[in-house]
Amino acid sequence: MEIISDIKEMQKRSYGLREKGHRIGFVPTMGFLHRGHSSLMEKAREENDALVVSIFVNPTQFGPGEDYEAYPRDVEKDQALCQKVGTDLLFSPSPSGMYPSGFGTAVSVSGITEGLCGASRPGHFDGVCTVVAKLLNIVCPHRAYFGLKDYQQFQVVRRMARDLDIDTEIVGLPTVREPDGLAMSSRNAYLTPGERKAALTLFQALQWARKMVEGGILEAGTIEERVREMILSTNGASIDYVSVVDAEELSPVKIIRDRALLALAVRLGKARLIDNIILEAGNRQSNG
Ligand code: PAF
Repeated sequence: MEIISDIKEMQKRSYGLREKGHRIGFVPTMGFLHRGHSSLMEKAREENDALVVSIFVNPTQFGPGEDYEAYPRDVEKDQALCQKVGTDLLFSPSPSGMYPSGFGTAVSVSGITEGLCGASRPGHFDGVCTVVAKLLNIVCPHRAYFGLKDYQQFQVVRRMARDLDIDTEIVGLPTVREPDGLAMSSRNAYLTPGERKAALTLFQALQWARKMVEGGILEAGTIEERVREMILSTNGASIDYVSVVDAEELSPVKIIRDRALLALAVRLGKARLIDNIILEAGNRQSNG
């Protein structure tokens, strides 16, 4: 595995791989890698000739007062994991390389960025889209892999790639969970043992919502209300949002007709955790 921090060098290597006809799979990350990331890397390894992973804690996607400085970092452990899954090139640029003085461009996707995390983290998706657009231009991958725990991010990046004719297939892969159901996240590192137990409320609430739909409850408002009550009954948990939205457009829905997304953002101590589930009206059990 080679570690590259220079942007031009990374671009040159990608062009070289493409000239040889190699297909490039790319996993962009902010480091502090876990099994969620390694599942993306393994798939990218399997489906492509070359695997490029980036590690860059992107300052522009953190709002004022958010956890940019505190965001967990462990370079050695990350490098070992990248090596283990067979990464060819690890791209690790510096903030000043990515955002030189005078940097003045932002990529902004409208519509699907307005609700959910876009509403509670203003500017977040502009930061994500700008850095992902830059990374795709630098790495020039045939495919880029994203985890569906960040479902809105996946849809936003896919929309950006489509709108800007970026010639990369944006692939979304299922959320990887701890044995008890908690979605893997670098931010789980913030949880105290008590909060870690309480964090299970997100997964339990999603499972409960699925059961409601199976039992014939299809009104989004009822599901949201019951899920909110369940989360608020958990010690120390406060709600950022609980929303049932259209699974593609991420706009609010009143009744689940086909597929909808139930997305949650919950605060527990220093951590803001997100999770989601697809609810399918077709899975509703007939009562005869
Ligand atoms: O999901 C992440 O880790 C980040 O948002 C990403 C896609 C690497 C952009 O900084």
